[in-house]
Amino acid sequence: MVRRPSDKVVRPTNPAQRELLDPAAPMSPEEAAALERIKSILLADGGRDISQYKDRYLRRRLNVRVRATKLPSYAAYVRLLEREPRELPILLDKLTINVTEFFRNPQVWRVVSTVVLPALFADRPEGSMIRVWSAGCANGQEAYSILFTLIEYLDQHPGKWKIVIRGTDVDRASLQTARAGCYPTATLRGATPEVVARYFEDAPDPQGEARPHVRVRKEFRDRVTFQYHDLVSDRPQRYFDLILCRNMLIYLSKAQQEHVLRSLHAALVSRGFLVLGKTESMAVALRPAFQLVDVAERVYQRLDIPPT
Ligand SMILES: C[S@@+](CC[C@H](N)C(=O)[O-])C[C@H]1O[C@@H](n2cnc3c(N)ncnc32)[C@H](O)[C@@H]1O
Repeated sequence: MVRRPSDKVVRPTNPAQRELLDPAAPMSPEEAAALERIKSILLADGGRDISQYKDRYLRRRLNVRVRATKLPSYAAYVRLLEREPRELPILLDKLTINVTEFFRNPQVWRVVSTVVLPALFADRPEGSMIRVWSAGCANGQEAYSILFTLIEYLDQHPGKWKIVIRGTDVDRASLQTARAGCYPTATLRGATPEVVARYFEDAPDPQGEARPHVRVRKEFRDRVTFQYHDLVSDRPQRYFDLILCRNMLIYLSKAQQEHVLRSLHAALVSRGFLVLGKTESMAVALRPAFQLVDVAERVYQRLDIPPT
């Protein structure tokens, strides 16, 4: 293979930085202790329990921040965290991956429209309330996407159901964006022109720059509520007919994934639906407690069998 000059890989000569660049590399006892100290600062001062994150994921995210500060080691970074109060919110932000978009992974939305919603509405008498939860909703696009999908479904199948939609996340900045419902126009690439025309209006760039933005119209924004909720450490929520929990469990350890899946089972009503999406998988211990509805998109229906 011919390597072009721009492909040149620059490897740090400093051993501590090499360690930082490879989240799988073994750590010295000092670095391991510093990592534990970072976890305890995040928990005590940042209110974020990251013991559940896979170590490799945590170190990969942490390394992004440590490298940006140009510090050579976790030990040096701990000292920065201890003396500089502005550093903790920056680190919390870096640990969160909140990539999302409207109608992300179109195939899953087809399964929701053609399989999940018909079964859900067939099972609920008119006049009842349908409660939907976007768990790990990031900036809110998933919660609004399910609102629009429900509205379109009810246009085709009119009836008097009351729809309640909640989005939750641990990232407070994302929740603020979700409530404002204001996004760069580019994040609408998964939405049809009809959806854009019906649910969005043009909006100024909240950063004061000139990037084109749209905002979810107020009448639709008002139909979704957003709340802080930590899926790992907060008490399970209850009585949902449909839960979307996508692209979030992958960051957790196996044990914590199982814990969250138990909470989601508890949060669903009988025969309620759980949409995990194709990047997630159902923990083996939980499989008897769910009926598989769509294998590719990992859609499940709650069975009234307590998880083992
Ligand atoms: C990659 S985004 C996924 C957003 C959306 N569900 C989607 O599929 O497009 C993952 C989200 O999970 C959130 N998250 C991470 N740990 C969480 C936890 N313990 N409880 C609730 N949300 C969490 C992150 O803040 C982030 O916004």
